[in-house]
Amino acid sequence: MYFEEVRNGSCVSYVIGCERTCAALVVDPALEQRDRYLALTSARGMRIRYLLDTHTHADHFSGARRLGADLGVPTVMHRASPAPFIDVRVEDGESLIVGELRLRVMHTPGHTRDSLCLVLPDRVCTGDTLLFGATGRTDLPTGDPEALYDSLFHHLLALDTSLLMFPAHNYQGVAAHTLADERTTNPRLQKTERTAFVDMMRSLNLKMPDHLTEALRTNCTGGKTVGEIIREAAEKISFVTMDELRRRIERGDPGMAILDVREADQYATGHVPGALHVPRGQLELRIDDVFPDPTTRILAYCEFGKISTIAAATLRSMGFSGAVALDGGFRAWREAGCPVETGGPTRRA
Ligand SMILES: [Fe+2]
Repeated sequence: MYFEEVRNGSCVSYVIGCERTCAALVVDPALEQRDRYLALTSARGMRIRYLLDTHTHADHFSGARRLGADLGVPTVMHRASPAPFIDVRVEDGESLIVGELRLRVMHTPGHTRDSLCLVLPDRVCTGDTLLFGATGRTDLPTGDPEALYDSLFHHLLALDTSLLMFPAHNYQGVAAHTLADERTTNPRLQKTERTAFVDMMRSLNLKMPDHLTEALRTNCTGGKTVGEIIREAAEKISFVTMDELRRRIERGDPGMAILDVREADQYATGHVPGALHVPRGQLELRIDDVFPDPTTRILAYCEFGKISTIAAATLRSMGFSGAVALDGGFRAWREAGCPVETGGPTRRA
């Protein structure tokens, strides 16, 4: 069996392959690691056959849907998953066949209702059910400390505890070890009495993860992340650096129309000298009045450089093939000491 850990920050995904038949599966794939999964498997002549998410992630964006669509590979989750794009829904006790490997699904609700562990002959991928030195939290949507207690003490730890455990997060770079080792050292597993365990889980008082609602929206619906929308827009345009724009303004001829796409009050408190103003929300409806000539070169900017990227891509899609965005936003422009003009919105007649 081929087994490789792929880290993406503190998230860990696993490539599991059958060397004889060259079939592979990726557990908890991350979109950013797409090329790495492909490189690892193709270097061994393997082909990815399944993408499996151990649960609905609330703290990061699953790569399963996009990768599945890109690679033509089915996505797998527990039947309780709310995601509509899952191809293969599995239940407790069922197995996935990957070449000659049999990967048994163990339903372990608690961290989420759809959490599962994947049991292999010598190891178990524990998802967020059991982490090194911790467990998955139970205070996020569909979390349930009572269910986690049953999953841990009656199911996961009822397995052969000489199995190695591989969780979906590894915050401190802990080396892989057995369920038995974890049972001895993990402070949460010392609360072996149900009420004590549930009380402990309810009193953890953890900080909400960043991007919680965005991650749940994306992972539950298959919709795009904000980052993806900006990345896709960035791929359609080119950029002008702040240094380049500053040089052009200082020589008195920017060689392009400068367009501020922020809100009017932001524009009024300070903008790039000579900038026209059309807020992003009115761009499509007003742009033809402002720029009747679609060959006009337009440089869009906003506060942080994200909305202007989308605005420039929108302009290109409308036929303004010379639309570009400022690499950076007005905040950085101002902080760098670049020239700033103040006053109400400037509109071209
Ligand atoms: Fe999680």
